[in-house]
Amino acid sequence: MKTSGGSDAAKRRAGESAAEAVTDGDVVGLGTGSTAAHAIRRIGDRVDSGLDVRGVPTSFASRELAVDASVPCLDLPEAVGPDGPGIDLAIDGADQVATGGEEDDALDPGGALIKGGGAAHAREKLVDAAADRFLVVADPSKESPRLDRSVPVEALPAGRTAVAEAVREAGGEPTLRRAERKDGPVVTDNGNVVLDCAFGEIADPTALSTTLSAVPGVVEHGLFVGIVDEIHVGTESGVRVEE
Ligand code: 5RP
Repeated sequence: MKTSGGSDAAKRRAGESAAEAVTDGDVVGLGTGSTAAHAIRRIGDRVDSGLDVRGVPTSFASRELAVDASVPCLDLPEAVGPDGPGIDLAIDGADQVATGGEEDDALDPGGALIKGGGAAHAREKLVDAAADRFLVVADPSKESPRLDRSVPVEALPAGRTAVAEAVREAGGEPTLRRAERKDGPVVTDNGNVVLDCAFGEIADPTALSTTLSAVPGVVEHGLFVGIVDEIHVGTESGVRVEE
């Protein structure tokens, strides 16, 4: 699994802290990435100790991890359908979390994040947005006064040049994400490609989110705006929780 950003100890503290928020009987969205993986493993430990929980994976990788950790899984359509139990909380990582640049530099859970470093953001957004509570797990390397990382945009393969053109018109510079060890593009769990789109500092994440969502051929983009309830930031010595 791709690992980015800060130390593994900080990621583990964040993931394990959020895993403690899970209570008996919960349906839990299981995020993707190295920080969310710590939460999944901790939930697995708690299942071994008798916790009754069902997970809703956000990717093939998180499902594999959940199965390895003995966390029973539901598919998203089963969880959120008319007869489904719903999702009580989701725990997921982030590539960048905006602090808002205020003097106290506090993270704003109502603010915006960038996700999709693992190319799983389409399913992540479905699961994270459907949950009653969305907990983000991060290490301090993910915090930034303003969002300025590239925004991953998942596009239908046939639409990739049209989407790239629309991104340029919106002021971005798209780069097709390539597989590290293969000669070709990264292909998502949904069979699509990813354009990493550099916009510089994003002054208005809500407006950019709306613009990208309206482009034909865009399946989903990695701007998550206004859906976070809590942020668990693991540090070298502890965990900070922003609500
Ligand atoms: C995957 C994601 C991940 O949550 C994000 O890339 C953070 O990953 P990590 O915890 O490994 O730094 O959005 O699509």
